[in-house]
Amino acid sequence: MTENRQIIIDSLPTDRLEPGNYALRTVEAPAPGDGEVLCRTLAITIGAGQRAGLQGSASYAGAPRAGIVMSGTAVARVEASNDDAVPAGSLVVCPAGWQDYSVHEAAKVRVVDEGRGGDPAHHLGVYGTNGLTAYFGLFDVGGPEEDQTVVVSAAAGSVGHLVGQMAKTAGCRVVGVAGGEAKCRLLTEDLGFDAAVDYKSPDFRGDFKEATSDRIDIYFDNTGGEVLGSALRRMKVGGRIVCCGVVSQYDTSKPAPGPFGVPGLLINFRVRMEGFLVFDYAKRYPEAWTRMREWVEAGELVPKQDVFEGLENAPEAFVDLLAGGNVGTRIVRVAS
Ligand SMILES: NC(=O)c1ccc[n+]([C@@H]2O[C@H](COP(=O)([O-])OP(=O)(O)OC[C@H]3O[C@@H](n4cnc5c(N)ncnc54)[C@H](OP(=O)(O)O)[C@@H]3O)[C@@H](O)[C@H]2O)c1
Repeated sequence: MTENRQIIIDSLPTDRLEPGNYALRTVEAPAPGDGEVLCRTLAITIGAGQRAGLQGSASYAGAPRAGIVMSGTAVARVEASNDDAVPAGSLVVCPAGWQDYSVHEAAKVRVVDEGRGGDPAHHLGVYGTNGLTAYFGLFDVGGPEEDQTVVVSAAAGSVGHLVGQMAKTAGCRVVGVAGGEAKCRLLTEDLGFDAAVDYKSPDFRGDFKEATSDRIDIYFDNTGGEVLGSALRRMKVGGRIVCCGVVSQYDTSKPAPGPFGVPGLLINFRVRMEGFLVFDYAKRYPEAWTRMREWVEAGELVPKQDVFEGLENAPEAFVDLLAGGNVGTRIVRVAS
């Protein structure tokens, strides 16, 4: 028998997520049926939005429940196939969940080009959901123009560090908001941001005002909470707020209400505040992949990864991400 290690949701978090909310079990690997493929997980990605899924606040994830394999996207190798379109040996992206082996309808996995993607884990980061989220959120919802000021929160995270760099390709002035001096230095010294502000600093409000002295054309909001509250007060007339996520309110059973000043400030500054879900852009993903590949190959977009080793460490990797431990896309390597 081929063993399949699985990380299951043992209990739903009642407050902050803990590794103890998960359990490891070993079962027999599944066998593919007609038109199906057996996938060996190589790496999974963990994103902040998965905590919204556990909280029950992500409409696309359905109601959270215990006793099932934790969901997640993987890059995987097809080990056995019952569909000629996806032969054994193919490298694919699939919704494997946190486990070694998974079975999928061949039509529902995405075969990726090994030659062009570079590190296979890039298919989970810059060419994965978070890269696409950065792309469509910034360009379609935000609509940046040259010389405009773009502010992004959780700026050193997976979505955030890509948003900032993409905004630079559009000729914008980019300000990142992140937790801690080290992350802020990385943004300005390594990733080309024009300024970075530490939201954990006691001087945050003043620093933020100084970094946005010309006010904000586009605020790309990954966090909600205090950073959104501050950005609302610094918007330009006609500015846009791109509502991408609310990470400041995920890791709790008592999320705070939205910021003071909505809708008053939106009215006074004629600001458009708009939410989006990346999945609505699925038909246009190829357009984003083409442009992102060009930027990566030209060195204009530098995707960062943050790697944990071992499936058994996925719960710790998730808890650590929510506490701000990651820079770029968090990847858990499961097999080589
Ligand atoms: N709309 C969509 O279709 C879509 C799709 C994918 C992702 N998203 C959203 O995109 C956002 C970013 O997701 P990601 O996967 O790229 O995660 P991430 O930014 O890589 O990781 C989360 C980061 O959030 C920051 N954070 C944690 N608690 C915070 C708080 N209280 N206040 C401010 N920042 C806090 C931490 O960085 P610091 O060290 O800076 O605190 C942490 O590194 C999430 O809100 C997610 O839900 C939306």
